[in-house]
Amino acid sequence: MNIEILAGTPSSVETPLLVLPWCQASETEAERPAAELDPLDEVLGLTLTRAVVGGDYRARRGETLLLYRVKDSGPDRVLLVGVGQRGDLKAERLREAGGHGARRAAELGVTEMFVWASPEWLGGVVDLEHASRALVEGVVLGDWRFEELRSEPAEDDHRPALQALSLLVPKAPAKKLAGSGAALGQVVAEAQNYARELAIRPANIVTPRYLADEARRLGEELGLKVTVLDREEMKKDGMNALLAVAAGSDEEPRFIAVEYSPAPGQRPLVLVGKGVTFDAGGLSLKTPAGMESMKDDMSGAAAVLGALRAVARLKLKANVVGLIPAVENLPSGHALRPGDVISSRSRKTIEVLNTDAEGRLILADALNYAARYEPVALVDIATLTGACVVALGKEAIGLMGSDQGLVDEIRVAADRSGERVWQFPLWDEYRELMKSEVADIKNAGGRPAATITAGIFLREFVGSVPWAHLDIAGTAWAEKAGPYQLAGPTGVGVRLFTEWVRGRAG
Ligand code: BES
Ligand code: MN
Ligand code: ZN
Repeated sequence: MNIEILAGTPSSVETPLLVLPWCQASETEAERPAAELDPLDEVLGLTLTRAVVGGDYRARRGETLLLYRVKDSGPDRVLLVGVGQRGDLKAERLREAGGHGARRAAELGVTEMFVWASPEWLGGVVDLEHASRALVEGVVLGDWRFEELRSEPAEDDHRPALQALSLLVPKAPAKKLAGSGAALGQVVAEAQNYARELAIRPANIVTPRYLADEARRLGEELGLKVTVLDREEMKKDGMNALLAVAAGSDEEPRFIAVEYSPAPGQRPLVLVGKGVTFDAGGLSLKTPAGMESMKDDMSGAAAVLGALRAVARLKLKANVVGLIPAVENLPSGHALRPGDVISSRSRKTIEVLNTDAEGRLILADALNYAARYEPVALVDIATLTGACVVALGKEAIGLMGSDQGLVDEIRVAADRSGERVWQFPLWDEYRELMKSEVADIKNAGGRPAATITAGIFLREFVGSVPWAHLDIAGTAWAEKAGPYQLAGPTGVGVRLFTEWVRGRAG
């Protein structure tokens, strides 16, 4: 998508579609149009004022109204998109507005559109740079769809993709801030779409070897150092917990390290993403319904690759390493058995009571491996527990960690990126639930606090590095569509990570 910033007045742009984010004045009324919009109202035959003043249009969050030009020049169509009350306005409402705009553009079959980004209209509530970023993210995310595996377009989907987006600002000096926000938003949203693409491709395509090849391809494109360990190399390195999970599948496991190093000599941030390309549960087999969606069990890996892509394209001045343990979790005659005691890279022994708690096993070795980079901070992301879906539903990422300073940084980044997190405690009392009769720790602690006990398990393998853990079991896949989200993979984590690294890079 080609994105540019133009200075001008809404009434004079020639475009098939102009999107105007619109605020509510009260529960029952939209804000009156500002005087600067009078000429546009003329172009629309005064229907803008009539819709708003008559109360037909209330500008509630997500409420849209499409108006048409009656004069000879100006935008063909104007779409009002409600963003709720001015006092509650935040970047997320604008991201949603961008998504609604992209959706309607697709329905109308138009391939270019304008969005009005007036700093006056925004009223100083959200600064223009952040607002522009959010609008662009909404449009780019809202325009995404996945068609590569159809031989012909879906019946209801012959829409062309959006080719061009223009942000319209009132005066030339505003172009700079709007431009930098838009550039950032485009890179981040494209990286998030990239993560969605990896997650939606099925497990017969996205295997551990595929993830490794994709990481190499990405590395070549962006100048990243990529190292891939195969089964033999992992064995030499002592990644026994990871290999124990891989044992049940004929797919070869891979351990992938991607390094972005723009700041020589500085200790890196390390991101670890769970890369289970399919999770059948192993011998602790899932139900058919339970494994239907398990091609997305590598969404953490997708988020890490997406974040590295964004960070590298933005040329952020912070060293970042992405680590991806990639395996398939299947039952077979070679598979790990419930009750088996395995060793791990850290040499701690693990009693595997449930082979479906495989994510923590591969992450244990990856987190332990991370120490070799002497990271300033270590964050992992994983579709780890069904219990996280029970606790938070689809609304928030489960967050926990060993270092409250780091956890708070993640919370700030979440707030700024619009990807919500909610913290769970890792009190030492929960460790009791993971005590094994025979080994150092067991891998499943039963139903109580199952998201937390997974975090407790991971903590054992981290060492002394400040560490945080993101459980995206609920947020990686959307059951129903949202303003900038189709039902399907969300690419969650990419915006959050990129924002976090941006904060660290200063
Ligand atoms: N990949 C699943 C977690 C999951 C479940 C993600 C549902 C998304 C939706 C994970 O490997 C798993 O199976 N976890 C088990 C752990 C349990 C056996 C301790 C779970 O949560 O049931
Ligand atoms: Mn599992
Ligand atoms: Zn899993």
